[in-house]
Amino acid sequence: MRSKLFILLVLAMAGCMPKNNRPMGEGAGSTDYREPWRPQFHFSPASGWMNDPNGMVYYDGEYHLFYQHYPDSTVWGPMHWGHAISTDLVHWQQMPIAIYPDTLGWIFSGSAVLDAENSSGLGTAENPPLVAIYTYHNDLLGRNGQNPQSQGIAYSTDKGRSWTKYPGNPVLKSPGINDFRDPKVFLHQETQKWIMALAVQDRIHFYSSPDLLTWSFESDFGKDLGAHGGVWECPDLFPMVVEEIGLTKWVLLVNINPGGPNGGSANQYFVGDFDGHTFTPDPEFLTTLESGATETSPFNNWVDWGRDNYAGVTWSNIPPSDGRRLLIGWMSNWQYANVVPTSTWRSACTLVRELKLVHDHNSFLLVSRPVSELQTLRDTASHVKLPPETFSGEKILDAGMVTLSQCEMILEFEAGENLPDTLEITLENELNERYNFGYDPQKGLLYSNRSNAGGTGFSDQFAGTATAPFKTEKSLQLHLFVDAASIEIFVNGGQRVMTEILFPSTGFKTLKVNAKGAEVTLNQAELYSLRRIW
Ligand code: FRU
Repeated sequence: MRSKLFILLVLAMAGCMPKNNRPMGEGAGSTDYREPWRPQFHFSPASGWMNDPNGMVYYDGEYHLFYQHYPDSTVWGPMHWGHAISTDLVHWQQMPIAIYPDTLGWIFSGSAVLDAENSSGLGTAENPPLVAIYTYHNDLLGRNGQNPQSQGIAYSTDKGRSWTKYPGNPVLKSPGINDFRDPKVFLHQETQKWIMALAVQDRIHFYSSPDLLTWSFESDFGKDLGAHGGVWECPDLFPMVVEEIGLTKWVLLVNINPGGPNGGSANQYFVGDFDGHTFTPDPEFLTTLESGATETSPFNNWVDWGRDNYAGVTWSNIPPSDGRRLLIGWMSNWQYANVVPTSTWRSACTLVRELKLVHDHNSFLLVSRPVSELQTLRDTASHVKLPPETFSGEKILDAGMVTLSQCEMILEFEAGENLPDTLEITLENELNERYNFGYDPQKGLLYSNRSNAGGTGFSDQFAGTATAPFKTEKSLQLHLFVDAASIEIFVNGGQRVMTEILFPSTGFKTLKVNAKGAEVTLNQAELYSLRRIW
């Protein structure tokens, strides 16, 4: 937030104030989505700046994705809610900007719900409203030493196409705290009240409401728990059924910046119970961590261990017949988000992931997997399936006609008698730029090294190796997605995930595996080029 405030100051001095009467469609820009490093199967804004995904809600056959957006620049500035719609979680249609700043402030992160019973009275019983709940950030107040943040709402009765601000805004004022933001709202079935989880500096506040318009404080959580290397932002709270044991637990996501396990921004989680008033964590989530987890840290509850999955929260109103808990994150990190070398737009979202809560070593593990809809992008004509093979040392895998800079790979390794010192995969281009991902069984670590994978000079915080603690017996399954400037790696069914962005000068052409010091068997190796979504 500190670097953002600096940018704000610069923008304010340059007279860069929000324009409220932008014509419909602006922000959509004109692009063929072919610029260098433009993702081909991830959502990125047609033009301008993007950070957090916001207000994801499913309604009437459409998945809405709103996002923090500054249309006038490719660096962070006066925030709007950009908008995109998908009918399959894979293809996205860029929509006009949904919510503009106004005299109460810029439109920071938040959520959206279907008010099915029209409890707010903002729609009708026949046509219930979609209601967006967001943070107003009033820059002027902030600069005059007053609390800049409050919560406002806007509603839509035309399937999210146009949004009207509630005349009684703000609906929740700050009790005298600067960091007071990112409301995530849901209907608590048992009490039939709306619950808001709000990030307040170093903790989460819970509020309740009968109608989305008036809010009462219920409780706070987390001042002494979890990671505290930075400010808490963008929470989410939802129930999940642990399928093996048929138990319902509540998962609380809390994004934090900085203080992530590999520096900068990251998303931590807690598992416990919620009774409509208070979140009570399970005993194994009672750890505190002052600054950034390390491999020896007892606090290992991160949604993603890569450096580029921030501000992730889940969709609301997914129909019970589907029942999935779907997450999407911002594929960047505040350490360098404003300076990555893209031209007319900045940042993309992660792939949409399905979350599962599994019982693991007397605790709970939040697992994420890419949604199955992504399989529709597989180009079966260039599909490569290699026969099983036992090898040691370095080996080039024949990727055939697969485009390695736009692909999906499933690699499954089985160790022999002895475990290798490391098991590594490398993606390389003709300029000898290479990205390495590997597993070190002795250290019990996964690692992702982008130091030599292309441009890193735009920020001294970009190069380097990210690690994640991980132990597996004999087999390692990697499910990878490479898309121009990003790689997402789901390990052993999503028990660990690492999402990283990279900026190779040209596309990767060679795929190598290297089992150092022992034989391993590559039991499964399937590669697919993925079709572009634009
Ligand atoms: C997280 C965040 C939020 C805030 C938004 C502003 O990345 O800092 O806390 O609402 O970005 O753009």
